[in-house]
Amino acid sequence: MQPAGLFITFEGIDGAGKSTHIAALAEAFRAAGRNLTLTREPGGTPLAEKLREMVLNDAMDPLCEALLMFAARRDHLQQVIEPALARGDVVLCDRFTDATFAYQGGGRGFDLNVLQQLEQWVQVRADTGQLRQPDLTVWFDLPPDVAARRLAGARVPDRFETQPEAFFRRVAEGYGSRLKQDPARFVRVPSDQSKEAVWRAVRAAFEQRGWLQVTEVRA
Ligand code: TMP
Repeated sequence: MQPAGLFITFEGIDGAGKSTHIAALAEAFRAAGRNLTLTREPGGTPLAEKLREMVLNDAMDPLCEALLMFAARRDHLQQVIEPALARGDVVLCDRFTDATFAYQGGGRGFDLNVLQQLEQWVQVRADTGQLRQPDLTVWFDLPPDVAARRLAGARVPDRFETQPEAFFRRVAEGYGSRLKQDPARFVRVPSDQSKEAVWRAVRAAFEQRGWLQVTEVRA
């Protein structure tokens, strides 16, 4: 029998080691024999990748920014995420709608009611009428000052990475609010600790849900 699809999203400000842990989870799911779709937002389809280039680099007002994020998401859901879940894949998606609430809502201070309406428009499924949400969202929670130290000089910054620390404090608060609204969907991983400790916490969240096998603890 085909396993049920799983939709997992990863969130947090940059510098928390998100990519490393997504790669490690992908490896663990592959070893467990699952088919994977690895993807990211904004992006994941040819159209959404074009929108990504614009939204990360071109000046625009906050409504335009929010609309482009959701336009990219709509294409991504229809072209990649929904078909993958229908096939029974594990979809590992680097950022999703919580990022819009955190960055555009928290960081930019954009109207949360408008974001909620866009979320409904974009994520309501034609087949069930239900809102598509991740089965689990892993939030790598890293204090913004630690993130800034880790990222200093790491790469050419985009329109978000050039924001001051206060912006990222608001982003972190935005993630915190989303978690409060739907705590069962989230696992918050304090990420100001060693890579190994973060990985143990991430892996445990999947083992507890029966999605990965429990690893042997060596004495
Ligand atoms: P990345 O560098 O992790 O791929 O993410 C791209 C940037 O886009 C990152 O700074 C967060 C930002 N972003 C938003 O502002 N809103 C969104 O909805 C998403 C998905 C990302």
